[in-house]
Amino acid sequence: MVNLLRKQMLSIPIGLYCSAIILLKICICSQFSMPSSDQFNKDPGAFPVATNGEPFPWHELRLPKMVIPLHYDLLVHPNLTSLDFVASEMIEVLVKDATEFIILHSKDLEIMNAILHSEEDLRYRKPGKKLNVLSYPAYQQIALLVPEKLMADLRYHVAIDFQAKLADNFEGFYKSTYRTLGGETRTVAVTDFEPTDARIAFPCFDEPSFKANFSIKIRRESGHIALSNMPKVKTIELEGGLLEDHFETTVKMSTYLVAYIVCDFKFVSGTTSSGIKVSIYASPDKWSQTHYALEASLKLLDFYENYFDINYPLPKLDLVAIPDFASGAMENWGLITYRETSLLFDPKTSSTSDKLWVTRVIAHELAHQWFGNLVTMEWWNDIWLNEGFATYMELISVNATYPELQFDDYFSNVCFEVITRDSLNSSHPISNQAETPTQIQEMFDTVSYNKGACILNMLKDFLNGEKFQKGIIHYLKKFSYRNAKNDDLWSSLSNGCLEGDFTSGGFCYSDSKTTSNTLTFPGENVEVKEMMTTWTLQKGIPLVVVSQEGRSLRLRQERFLSGVFKEDPGWRALQERYLWHIPLTYSTSSSNAVHRHILKSKTDTLDLPEKTSWVKFNVDSNGYYIVHYEGHGWDQLITQLNQNHTLFRPKDRIGLIHDAFQLVSARRLTLDKALDLTHYLQHETSILVLLKGLEYLESFYYMMERRNISDVTENLKHYLLRYFKPVIDTQSWSDEGSIQDKMLRSALLKLTCHLNHAPCIQKATELFSQWTESSGKLNLPTDVLKIVYSVGAQTTAGWNYLLEQYELSMSGAEKNKILYALSTSKHQEKLMKLIELGMEGKVIKTQDLAALLHAIARNPQGQQLAWNFVRENWTHLLKKFDLDSFAMRIIISGTTSHFSSKDELQEVKLFFESLKAQGSHLDIFQIVLETITKNIKWMEKNLPTLRTWLQIKI
Ligand code: BES
Ligand code: ZN
Repeated sequence: MVNLLRKQMLSIPIGLYCSAIILLKICICSQFSMPSSDQFNKDPGAFPVATNGEPFPWHELRLPKMVIPLHYDLLVHPNLTSLDFVASEMIEVLVKDATEFIILHSKDLEIMNAILHSEEDLRYRKPGKKLNVLSYPAYQQIALLVPEKLMADLRYHVAIDFQAKLADNFEGFYKSTYRTLGGETRTVAVTDFEPTDARIAFPCFDEPSFKANFSIKIRRESGHIALSNMPKVKTIELEGGLLEDHFETTVKMSTYLVAYIVCDFKFVSGTTSSGIKVSIYASPDKWSQTHYALEASLKLLDFYENYFDINYPLPKLDLVAIPDFASGAMENWGLITYRETSLLFDPKTSSTSDKLWVTRVIAHELAHQWFGNLVTMEWWNDIWLNEGFATYMELISVNATYPELQFDDYFSNVCFEVITRDSLNSSHPISNQAETPTQIQEMFDTVSYNKGACILNMLKDFLNGEKFQKGIIHYLKKFSYRNAKNDDLWSSLSNGCLEGDFTSGGFCYSDSKTTSNTLTFPGENVEVKEMMTTWTLQKGIPLVVVSQEGRSLRLRQERFLSGVFKEDPGWRALQERYLWHIPLTYSTSSSNAVHRHILKSKTDTLDLPEKTSWVKFNVDSNGYYIVHYEGHGWDQLITQLNQNHTLFRPKDRIGLIHDAFQLVSARRLTLDKALDLTHYLQHETSILVLLKGLEYLESFYYMMERRNISDVTENLKHYLLRYFKPVIDTQSWSDEGSIQDKMLRSALLKLTCHLNHAPCIQKATELFSQWTESSGKLNLPTDVLKIVYSVGAQTTAGWNYLLEQYELSMSGAEKNKILYALSTSKHQEKLMKLIELGMEGKVIKTQDLAALLHAIARNPQGQQLAWNFVRENWTHLLKKFDLDSFAMRIIISGTTSHFSSKDELQEVKLFFESLKAQGSHLDIFQIVLETITKNIKWMEKNLPTLRTWLQIKI
């Protein structure tokens, strides 16, 4: 999504859409519009009232366990003209405990008929018994009241006829439209269920632990195709020419993974080495952009089958680019759906970072076919078992299959990104209570994704790769087609022994590599579970404070907080009861080997074999902690960086820069010291380290520019242009070089043109003119495309031309770049026009509105406009997006969280108060307020320092 934010976080410029999760780096929490279950539990005798006034027989959000589903026969007939669907299902259930009712989830469905059949009814073709259906919309449940008690241990069949409109908000079974090259608008119908939206498409036991088999049938017209999780077995022709596709029965799976699509898409396909047919589908005119995804998914599926030592269990896998999509992609088993920009790759307009993004998303969703689909978390509180793992597997698999993308080098950014969120008091533990659909939705945040991935990476580093892999194979095999909890994972990882391995003293050794399987701490009895629960059940990130006295290192752990300071009265209370088991790693000036020590207590001492001039903790930034070097610690490190930075590994240099600026936010280090640390960057040879340093300096520039602090803005501009001159001057406007060369080129030229540097503007203008003169046919280097467009968008003619091209373009990658460029205009009326187009949803799709508002809010000339628009059009926005949707969360945080003044804070507070008064309670309010407060404090403390530092340097 909005390039700027992602760039800030991943140092990779990307198109307008990036993951909603990544965008939501400041997390988001709860809106609870339903009565809380507590309210009901106070009086267990009092039952809720169904819509018809009768008592509803169940009063909990979670379904009872006395009836469980075994099999669903589902027939769906969507009408793409009238935009509704009729459907019927037969659910085979097993009664565990005798009962007089069955509770199911159902939301916004019109139930026409419900009949209960006993096994006997079916055997003797008896008619079955009509069920009385009660509905309790607050909990999205229906109750089927049975005339006679259902008997324990017997199976029954529940037949339900129902219908509904195709949704138009990307949820449940919804309509999506696209425009053909010829200008015709076509409609498709598609599902998107996770986490709690299967219930909008068919009545079901919509909780992840109610796994069942699904036999799906779809009716369609002959001009369309239907796709579902499994391959089609047959098509039968019905009266009137309608066709009915029957799909093979699925393996046992959760409802949120069911999927079906009716469309007229085209595909390319190939076969993996184990014989799985993989196909990539897209709307007909985008077919030519599917080839890269096919190559990548074949490679990645092969990789995962090998790595997990478990075959992909279905005969086929389809990956489909959907024109309107709420998130980035969804891992439905056998039928993965993607936002177009997350799957399609257009060699003419997709940049290197677009390629990395597509590869990552494919890798992520394929990883879910094991982590999530085969083994599913018991409940949504542990969604990190799905998302943290899938995010972590991106790293493992992309490294192995596309080493040239050098994704490994970016991984620390995945961790840095969540640290910003996790160092606010409003963060939450990875494993967190979530009951209502809103709370569940809120669990899909950077804490589950990124922190989950980072603590897994830390654990892998601690155990070693082989043992880690064995452990997860063990976990996946043991819990296949079942559900798992945190503890199940830790048990599997503590004892990674598989059958055939030799176990001794709690460790296991495989025949092949005896030594590498042992834990790396022979002398210590390390309990994986004991250690890992300190990371999953506590929120926040630890700060390790190191002070050196001769050969002795004194260590102390604290909870790291970036907006509350040690001198604040509330600080102590926020520290209480926090303790992590931190697997520390370090190297020293006299030994670059990786030394290890587990810090389990608040304080500890380490004795080094000899006196060293410096010690650097957190080798390769593999650990999830920040390090502060007290006394002369930082000075010694800075001296070493200036003398010979190559004594530290590149990832260590990145870690030092990151930690130093984090410590500035926490008022543990002065800004000038952190800036001094970046001064050696003139000699930096690693592009990634350079990018990291640049990222901070650039972010200060944007902060100053947004606040219109012109003296500092000007001085910073001169400093940046002078300081990075040698490297700016060597940039070419081409697509040449390694991935890192390209990343550096994009980042540097983008900044340079933004700073209005004449040679940059001149070259971009020249390329833009060539492009317009060729009527948009000229292929410009893809890695600088966005910069060229952004410079071009600064004139009215250029802006108008870009908008025309936006409408015509068939490449999502290009459209994102154009939309970003359009949003950088300095003219309010142009920015307003974009917002209007986004609200209209034709030229700029509704799926892109949140990202657009966010992009405009990042533009100094657009920030007030976007913010005012959101406040004034709140009810209009609510008609498009649910309050707890990703889009709304991005809109709220995207248009407010960069504010850094007291007046702005007051405005935001007032707005949130007014929403609360209307009954809208979102935890994101708290997160945004905490972020703005933190920004204000940063400014108060650091603006004078920055000003003085620049005056000296300039
Ligand atoms: N399972 C999610 C899709 C999802 C997200 C469902 C949020 C419900 C709520 C999917 O695997 C996913 O994580 N998608 C990401 C992209 C990924 C590469 C980070 C997304 O949609 O942003
Ligand atoms: Zn995911």
